[in-house]
Amino acid sequence: MQVFKEKRPLIDRIEKAKSDDLILGLVPTMGALHEGHISLIQTALQQSDQVVVTIFVNPTQFDNPEDLDKYPRTLENDLLLISALKKDIWVFTPSPQELYGENIFSEHFEFQGLEKVMEGKFRSGHFDGVGTVVKRIFDIVNPDRAFFGEKDYQQLQIIRKLTEITASPVEIIGCPILREQSGLARSSRNERLTSAQRNEAAFIYKTLKDVKNLFGTKSAKYISKWVEREFKNKKNLKLEYFEIANENSLEKLVVQSKNEKYRAFIAAYADDIRLIDNIAL
Ligand code: PAF
Repeated sequence: MQVFKEKRPLIDRIEKAKSDDLILGLVPTMGALHEGHISLIQTALQQSDQVVVTIFVNPTQFDNPEDLDKYPRTLENDLLLISALKKDIWVFTPSPQELYGENIFSEHFEFQGLEKVMEGKFRSGHFDGVGTVVKRIFDIVNPDRAFFGEKDYQQLQIIRKLTEITASPVEIIGCPILREQSGLARSSRNERLTSAQRNEAAFIYKTLKDVKNLFGTKSAKYISKWVEREFKNKKNLKLEYFEIANENSLEKLVVQSKNEKYRAFIAAYADDIRLIDNIAL
């Protein structure tokens, strides 16, 4: 493992690797690594000759400064987890100035409506921030492939759209959600849950599995009402949204088509900790 805080030496290494025709895989992260990230890195290792992992808590994708402050920062432990893989992984951990220069702000993107639904309704400017940082990281690393988890499924679709609108040649690879034994989707935010909250949060995935069973036998409207009622019975979990949407366009399901694929999405709060999850239906 080699750690780069500055982009120039990393770019030099990458240019050398590219001139040797190595396939470069990128795993962008905000740190606080868990098994979900490690599984992304392992997939990247299998599908690339050289892997770059970025660790950068991106200020422009937080609509709430408190959320940015509270975001776990565990660089020392992150590096231990990566070095335990015993591979020559290049880790890029820039400062905000190194990545953005002196003016830290987001570009505005039109993601053809993908940014307006679900997370986009509740986290103003979030996807502009994600698009901005991912574009900057792609420009520095110039990867052949980039690996993203399906837990942030809307983000994954947006990054696919980003490569389309910026005519970027990077191949975007979506990787399955890793779950705790209880079914709770692995997330850096889980570290902030108490053990009681962690147990309760498993209800999110349980509900998604129930939705999968109901799907096809009941209408989307019926299922949405049912999910809302289920959450009302949970004292310590607050549903922010439930949606069944087209897997590609993320448009809310109104009339089901046999030729389309759908996913169900949930965002919920355990106290002030926001959790998201989704399931293919
Ligand atoms: O999914 C994340 O961790 C972040 O949104 C990403 C893609 C690394 C951009 O900051």
